[in-house]
Amino acid sequence: MRKQIAAANWKMNLTLTEAESLADELLQTNHALSDDQLAIFAVPYPYLIPVRTKFEGKENVYVAAQNCSANKNGAFTGEVSAAMLQSIGIEYVVIGHSERREYNHEDNSLLAKKIDVALEFNLKPIFCCGEALSIREAGSQDAYVGTQLEESLFHLSPSDVDGFIIAYEPIWAIGTGRTATSEQAQQMHAHIRSVLTSKYGKEVADSISILYGGSVKASNAKEIFGQPDVDGGLVGGASLVASEFATIISSLK
Ligand code: PGA
Repeated sequence: MRKQIAAANWKMNLTLTEAESLADELLQTNHALSDDQLAIFAVPYPYLIPVRTKFEGKENVYVAAQNCSANKNGAFTGEVSAAMLQSIGIEYVVIGHSERREYNHEDNSLLAKKIDVALEFNLKPIFCCGEALSIREAGSQDAYVGTQLEESLFHLSPSDVDGFIIAYEPIWAIGTGRTATSEQAQQMHAHIRSVLTSKYGKEVADSISILYGGSVKASNAKEIFGQPDVDGGLVGGASLVASEFATIISSLK
């Protein structure tokens, strides 16, 4: 059975003290996760170890990097490699967030390389896809997201993608307060799963967790996560407030 996942994306927010207090507050909410549920915290690089230390011993709670380099090592000042993340015991990495696609010009082929390097170093990618408003308004979102999957993931083998995590994040819903309706989310998630089914077969497609991202909050999580092909969320703003994120975790199926 595929995992239901509440993933927090802290982006470039919080000082170390604030990050540690947020982790402490979350620990106080003390929500128990079942074996089919995960909470993953994608935190800035300097907080990976401190935040993981806070959550030490908590079942089904993980820390993720928000990015990694497409290169294995070498003269890439300011970059962080998958090997480095592995060497400090990190297991998950967000790849292809729309903010990195936009501000750092990360395209589908670069993201394919990042996925490869992440898998090589045993990191589990959380691969982000999603369309801009103009694409949605033109009605071409299905084809657009299909191409993102094809160009970044379809070189992988079925065993590589078994149990994979994909986050569908319509750009027009990120940080805007404008959420996709639960019908829009379900429609796109079903489309993503059918694209994966045609490439990898039903069994593999059914093992892949497809998270929705874009203005998820405590008040709308239950309805969105309740959709059959929505397996949780990738949450930005609302993950910075412990009580909000605790409610989001408890909204998982
Ligand atoms: P948001 O961000 O929840 O603040 O819309 C989601 C994301 O970018 O992952």
